[in-house]
Amino acid sequence: MWDERYAGDEYVFGTEPNTFLAEHAGKLAGPVLSLAEGEGRNAVFLASLGLDVHGVDASPVGLAKAQALAHAKGVAIRTELADLAEFVPEENHYGAVVSIWAHLPSAIRARLYPLVVRSLVPGGILLLESYSEAQLARDTGGPKDLDLLMTTAKIRAELPNLEPLLLQELVRDVVEGRRHTGLAAVVQFIGRKPGD
Ligand SMILES: C[S@@+](CC[C@H](N)C(=O)[O-])C[C@H]1O[C@@H](n2cnc3c(N)ncnc32)[C@H](O)[C@@H]1O
Repeated sequence: MWDERYAGDEYVFGTEPNTFLAEHAGKLAGPVLSLAEGEGRNAVFLASLGLDVHGVDASPVGLAKAQALAHAKGVAIRTELADLAEFVPEENHYGAVVSIWAHLPSAIRARLYPLVVRSLVPGGILLLESYSEAQLARDTGGPKDLDLLMTTAKIRAELPNLEPLLLQELVRDVVEGRRHTGLAAVVQFIGRKPGD
């Protein structure tokens, strides 16, 4: 499905980074793991800040465009083709993990999220923005499946071992390419792994 959406020259979510990520990028240390990186806009932005970035996605078409964007912007990113249902990130390795619009079924999250926490170094940060369940009533983007949408309660339940530095649901104006434009209901989370 995503290969079809990414076919063509247009960057579906644009080439500028997600605004929540851009606003808080100063909190992130490398290496950074970017889950469901897609066409590379967030990885390329983080690399332009001097961070070492590893982007993972299941779409080869998206990742090819990610590498093309990195080349065009004169930065290097590492991309890996992988299904997050099976992906095992390196343990105690990342200074930050980024998850932007990575809408995954709860069964995949239940396996992946503990591995994500394990992959962070002590003091490492998970930064996540997702459409919330309230987005189901809107037509401004995001999946039409409640199981893929988040709430602050789901974040607390599924990531109990991260200390929340920011956790909120809000409606904000999202302008991130053709597929994500307009007022949208989102969940934003910045969580810190204790121990440092
Ligand atoms: C809404 S797009 C977001 C892309 C990117 N994070 C951004 O903000 O531009 C969702 C991405 O999730 C990826 N994805 C969905 N399910 C996946 C899975 N099981 N494993 C890996 N990637 C997946 C898709 O290929 C797609 O690139």
